Amino acid sequence: MSLSFDGRVVLVTGAGGGLGREYALAFAARGASVVVNDLGADTKGGGKSSAAADKVVEEIRAKGGKAVANYDSVEDGEKLIQSALDAFGRIDIVVNNAGILRDRSFVRTSDLDWDLIQRVHLRGSFLVSRAAWNHMKNQNFGRIIMTASAAGIYGNFGQANYSAAKLGMLGLANTLAIEGRKYNIHCNTIAPIAGSRLTETVMPPDLVASLKPEYVAPLVLWLCHEQCQENGGLFEVGAGWIGKLRWERSQGQILRQKSKPMTPEAVRDQWDEICDFTNATKPTTIQESLASFVNVLSQVESGGEVGANPVAAAASAASDTGINPTMAVGQKLPTSSFSYTHTQCILYALGVGMSTKDPDHLRFLYEGHPDFSCLPTFGVIPSQSSIMDGGLSSVPGLDIDFTRVLHGEQYLELYKPLPTSGELISEATVADVLDKGSGAVILLDVNTYSGKELVCYNQFSLFVVGAGGFGVKRNSDKAKPPLPPPNRAPDAVVIDSTTRDQAALYRLSGDWNPLHIDPSFAAMGGFKKPILHGLCSFGFAGRHVLKQFADNDPSRFKAIKVRFAKPVSPGQSLQTEMWKEGNRIHIQCKVKETGDVVLTGAYGGGLQSELVFAEIGRRIKDLGSELVKKVNAVFGWEITKDGKKAAQWTIDLKNGSGSLHKGPHNEKADVTITISDEDFMEVVKGNLMPQKAFFSGKLKMSGNIMLSQKLEVILKDYAKL
Ligand code: NAI
Repeated sequence: MSLSFDGRVVLVTGAGGGLGREYALAFAARGASVVVNDLGADTKGGGKSSAAADKVVEEIRAKGGKAVANYDSVEDGEKLIQSALDAFGRIDIVVNNAGILRDRSFVRTSDLDWDLIQRVHLRGSFLVSRAAWNHMKNQNFGRIIMTASAAGIYGNFGQANYSAAKLGMLGLANTLAIEGRKYNIHCNTIAPIAGSRLTETVMPPDLVASLKPEYVAPLVLWLCHEQCQENGGLFEVGAGWIGKLRWERSQGQILRQKSKPMTPEAVRDQWDEICDFTNATKPTTIQESLASFVNVLSQVESGGEVGANPVAAAASAASDTGINPTMAVGQKLPTSSFSYTHTQCILYALGVGMSTKDPDHLRFLYEGHPDFSCLPTFGVIPSQSSIMDGGLSSVPGLDIDFTRVLHGEQYLELYKPLPTSGELISEATVADVLDKGSGAVILLDVNTYSGKELVCYNQFSLFVVGAGGFGVKRNSDKAKPPLPPPNRAPDAVVIDSTTRDQAALYRLSGDWNPLHIDPSFAAMGGFKKPILHGLCSFGFAGRHVLKQFADNDPSRFKAIKVRFAKPVSPGQSLQTEMWKEGNRIHIQCKVKETGDVVLTGAYGGGLQSELVFAEIGRRIKDLGSELVKKVNAVFGWEITKDGKKAAQWTIDLKNGSGSLHKGPHNEKADVTITISDEDFMEVVKGNLMPQKAFFSGKLKMSGNIMLSQKLEVILKDYAKL
């Protein structure tokens, strides 16, 4: 499908000529309403004329497009955005493109040369973007482009002022990308090369003529489209080529020993190692960067030998097993799209054993049913296709034998009920790679979107037999851990038989592995006959929980996690045992005929932190006045899940005899703490000290930070689970 900008309002600054003009024409040709801004200055920023912008507006209108001109300088950021609002009522996309040059060798650069360049490029981009920000935030959509330059990235003789401003814009974009993410405002930076009046003084005429601006515009359009999830990226673009840039950091060297001074001589002597880019890492966040410093502190503190760098050791052993975690972790698989209709939903429901025998099942089997729905566990299907389509084999650092890959665990979380038809886009990232000795575990995080909306999140845990021994990391804070069921009789048990053809039916939903149908393949894998798909048993268990505890209402289904313990043969009966604990359901699945446990540590339900808060609520009821005396403060909590706000709580240990309530804070919290559901659980279990969590960026605090000292009183002493 072609990319349309119908209904979108775009501001392109400096669009009276060169690259900006090309963007304006391209956006308009695809349906956008365009504000063509240009001051009409000369290349050094002198003079002013409305002719440049008017001409481009005329060109657009002559082709039937929608455009208005604006002649303000980008230094009047608000006025540019106001033009968009006046003419078209909104602003969706800002391309910061206006620019001038005042090239001088460094010592000859005057104050004016410096200031003008910073004002137009850096300050202008700041002012225009800031003016657009709240409009984008309120409509939960925005795309911002910053125009940097190779001169900034690499330096260029005679362009000290310009290169400083251009790389300043990259710094600005890096932070806007972070602050905008949760509002669906994405900010990316391009370093273009194109023939224009800015480059005609430095490039030969035939190069100016052949490096056409139309070879740059397609990247800008893609980055500004609602389908594009890229955020915080930096791209070089020109001549019909596009490449992405990122930071690389050498493994580096620890030069300090406990209770000995660190010396410049040690730096000199280890210089080659410090600068050696073998097995370099690619940090992408400030938390990753900070975490390595915290690591060094604890290594030095624990008396680790000089230079004994566990990351480096891991990487050098990696070449033997084909797995290189430093290369693989963080890699994205190619984006995959999955189109389906009600047919696939019904086929899946039949695949996981639904039947018209049960009148309740009709809403999943008949597209004419008034409540026709897609089973929540269908959420694994589109994301699985992103991995199966060969995506995993394209990841650098994962050179593995795919016949040795077993599906170990599965986690699925839904943010809204799955549509019964449409196109879903999945983006998979290697979240972590663990060494379990006998094998490697690859954790794959897959986000699946419908349009721009996140529909579900899957974590696949894949076990690669025999690929261990490459490193030191056995566990990951990114893993969704399975939980054992409570030590009591189950609250509900459902027994359901699979048919002889269950695997033959289930595979039509997209898992074509011959292991599940072809006897000779099954024999090669060491099985007597073809086995049922683990995800098919998972589907059985999921729908048992849905029926037993959620009245078959998919909107009440939040998450499910299972560990695959043993295979099931088609034709055997599955016995699902369920325990309700708070709003979570623990699940264990057995083969009835043999008693073998096939799914363990499973659960379905909401946030783990909900249970802790429920417990804290009970404690406050019992011991409230005592706690108020000890703590005397109001704590606001924001629990996040996959980077999104998932729940809010207020623990009031200041007023009356204390209280807990869920939802936004209606009294002023003395301190507000933001932490992910998983990290919260680590803090509660005492595995993660609050101070360390704060330092590593896992726990964020605003307000009276000193109150963090009282956190342990609340969480450790009173939330014993
Ligand atoms: P251009 O000179 O054709 O376009 C820049 C436009 O910005 C001009 O029409 C100018 O009137 C306008 N402008 C200048 N000051 C302004 C202000 N204060 N307010 C509003 N408009 C103003 O140059 P070109 O090559 O199209 O450059 C576009 C952007 O790309 C610039 O930011 C430039 O620094 C950047 N760039 C271009 C490269 C190239 O190879 N052409 C290389 C690297 C970066």
